[in-house]
Amino acid sequence: MARESALRFPGRKTVYGVGPDHPSVMLVGEAPGAKEVEEGRPFAGAAGKNLDEFLNATGLQRDELYISNVVKIRPCETGPTGRLRNRPPNREEITFFLPYLEKEILLLSPKLLVTLGNTPLQALSQPANTVGACHGQQLKSRLGLPLFSLYHPASIIYNRSLAPVYQADMEQLARFIHEM
Ligand code: URA
Repeated sequence: MARESALRFPGRKTVYGVGPDHPSVMLVGEAPGAKEVEEGRPFAGAAGKNLDEFLNATGLQRDELYISNVVKIRPCETGPTGRLRNRPPNREEITFFLPYLEKEILLLSPKLLVTLGNTPLQALSQPANTVGACHGQQLKSRLGLPLFSLYHPASIIYNRSLAPVYQADMEQLARFIHEM
């Protein structure tokens, strides 16, 4: 993938998934940001800190989970001040990386996929699904595996009122994992 990604998105570092080779649970986010590119691992920045807090509060250990993203490069653009800023991944980036994510899932063969936000939810289930309607629920992914939908941990940074909702969804996820 590295070669194809470098040819299609020159100069953009690829951030691969991390975790055990045979995870029961695989978390899938949207795309890396600046901190993730710097450290070379998903969810290394502010969103990852939020994610860790909620995982810890529900007794789930990050190192038991495999964590990856739909898009493996940082989607960014130049802002008005001339600095690079994040933007949501576009259709071209999602379409390019989706076959690699599918291959990653098939190789890891987790028992459960957990999507963080709309981008992985829509890529791995139906494009019409939204996290607002599906959060805290178990669906079936296009690959046949069960899929549990969570809000993106960054959404709590922008909307603090989602914190109790996120906490309840995490507790539901922890119950679901313990019953697996
Ligand atoms: N947001 C994501 O979706 N993925 C990351 O790796 C970091 C932030």
